[in-house]
Amino acid sequence: MAKILDGNAVAAAVKAEVASDVSRLAENGVVPGLAVVLVGDDPASATYVRMKERDCAEAGVRAVDYRRPAETTQAELEAIIDECNADPSIHGILVQMPLPDHLDAEAAVARIAPEKDVDGFHPVSLGRLVRGLPASRACTPFGVMRMLEHHGIEVAGKEAVVIGRSTIVGKPMALMLLEANATVTVCHSRTRDLAGVCRRADILIAAVGRPEMVTAEYVKEGAVVIDVGINRTDAGMVGDVDFASVEPVASAISPVPGGVGPMTRAMLVANTVHAAVAASGR
Ligand code: GUN
Repeated sequence: MAKILDGNAVAAAVKAEVASDVSRLAENGVVPGLAVVLVGDDPASATYVRMKERDCAEAGVRAVDYRRPAETTQAELEAIIDECNADPSIHGILVQMPLPDHLDAEAAVARIAPEKDVDGFHPVSLGRLVRGLPASRACTPFGVMRMLEHHGIEVAGKEAVVIGRSTIVGKPMALMLLEANATVTVCHSRTRDLAGVCRRADILIAAVGRPEMVTAEYVKEGAVVIDVGINRTDAGMVGDVDFASVEPVASAISPVPGGVGPMTRAMLVANTVHAAVAASGR
């Protein structure tokens, strides 16, 4: 029987930690502000944004909503970012991904003032991560690290395998595990004998976006399995891990939903509050 890594419980602990920063800021007349930019009508993105805004409200972070139609131009998007960059009441800017195809996500992210990049996607934030310098860390992998720490799961010296090499999850995940002294392997679509490589893992992170792809065959007895996948199927929302087959083999496993998802949002709140602290010097 694997331990179930409850993301909601860890997220509550993170939010309790930031609450003291929020009250100190309030005493100094500062309310952390997050601009949430959502372009188009992707239903999944709309759901994520709604949940992020709800978490902000609970934590005393003021979310300012910028919803724009799918036809929004790059210039219009960048004008919103410029306005938020210049606004001292906005401490964090989130541009929900994916953007519609005609928009240049790279240019949009690069337009965000690095100190307001609470998603940790800006080249400066990622560069600072590579260099081991402080910066906002990408929320999903940062949340995974926090979840491991909360449950006393040792990372140093462990074999960690990350499936997926996206800029949002896989690459920063690998860097954070490396920073925590794991021996890290990153797998992707060209990896040979994927299941064999994954079976080396003491800590296996699935971030591929393929419903229930990771079965027991990929998992060493006693491994810790973190499921980053959020896949909408006819059978409802499922992760990248086939929970039923993996749970009996793993020592700990994060569920979907209720695992990494709430952690991502908690780290967004934490990054925003920390950005407000840094900007106000309070
Ligand atoms: N799309 C999927 N995950 C994320 C995230 O963490 N931040 C943003 N901005 N977009 C996303």
